[in-house]
Amino acid sequence: MDTASTTKIDQRVLDEMLPYFTEFYGNASSSHKFGEIAKQAIDRSRIQVANIINCDKDEIIFTSGSTESINLAIKGYVESNQDKGNHIITVQTEHKAVLSTCEYLETKGYEVTYLDVDESGLISLEQLRESVKKNTLIVVIMYINNETGVIQPIRDIGKLCNDNNIAFFCDATQAVGKINVDIEEDQIDMLCFSGHKLNGPKGIGALYKREGIELTPLIHGGGQEGGLRGGTYNTPLIVGLGKACEVIYDGMDESISKIESIVDYFISSLKNITNCKIISERNLRSSNIVNIIIENLDSNVFIGMNKSIALSNGSACNSGVMDGSHVLKAMNITNYNNYNNIRVSIDKCSSKADVDALIQALRKTISS
Ligand SMILES: Cc1ncc(COP(=O)(O)O)c(C=O)c1O
Repeated sequence: MDTASTTKIDQRVLDEMLPYFTEFYGNASSSHKFGEIAKQAIDRSRIQVANIINCDKDEIIFTSGSTESINLAIKGYVESNQDKGNHIITVQTEHKAVLSTCEYLETKGYEVTYLDVDESGLISLEQLRESVKKNTLIVVIMYINNETGVIQPIRDIGKLCNDNNIAFFCDATQAVGKINVDIEEDQIDMLCFSGHKLNGPKGIGALYKREGIELTPLIHGGGQEGGLRGGTYNTPLIVGLGKACEVIYDGMDESISKIESIVDYFISSLKNITNCKIISERNLRSSNIVNIIIENLDSNVFIGMNKSIALSNGSACNSGVMDGSHVLKAMNITNYNNYNNIRVSIDKCSSKADVDALIQALRKTISS
């Protein structure tokens, strides 16, 4: 039940990857037949990845995951477009990969506006509109929040950016494979996601970059990925990302209905837990993430005492940071006191038995 943090690899994805470790291990940049086999596999994967977000295959850059894609998109864009301005707009509830990148850029002289969110976690389009200035270069707003599941009004944001001729970069790490993401309809200029969030392998992700957008590379090297990401192609992981996109795209309706039935079961089981409140209304959230606050619970202690139940009270990347969730704090949620929340995130591999185990553990803790 911590699948927003990572997921189990799908067997079909693993099977597709394995021959590229042992049999077809040529360097995709080599011109001999062994290289060509790897190159063809990468080309196939590029199409599978592009299909899931409705972009052109040549607009996909393979990276090691969303953290790298975020760094490349933001740093690469502002460095390459310095003549257009030095102002970035983002949101207080973004993932730390975005916030840390923006904080770093502030030390280099860039100006960053961090938009507020309301108690549901949504930005105000009005505040976004008012924040746009002559020197605004890029707007960085995530699709689905990793802690609350809240879905931002991406289509309206895309239109606003397009109307103002500002680049729009969207961190869709929690959205791709969970809902339909279409970069054309949403007018997104750059977008990222990671393989391991959609039953694919870890250490691989993609950055979509609209044709014509200029970026300065983070990793200089042998000219791979149009000169934007040097280094020998990691063929097995790239093949895995492509297959994961294909499998999740083809099975999306089925997995959404399974996820929804487990989540409904969880929500109805919560009726047995006193002083429990769900963060953000159902119609504003992605179906797979439910973050709850239980008034007198110390979730650090609860999670620590129930290590065989996979749960979280923030983003996995932040565990170890002991001052609570920056997302819930920005939302100003009544009754949130640093660590009395639990994030449950369900995927197609989760089960109602997982929910039963959690409810039982909660009841035991609360009654003791
Ligand atoms: C919304 C969001 N953005 C970025 C990341 C970073 O992804 P990765 O660790 O795969 O680089 C995550 C991972 O938790 C995430 O949930």
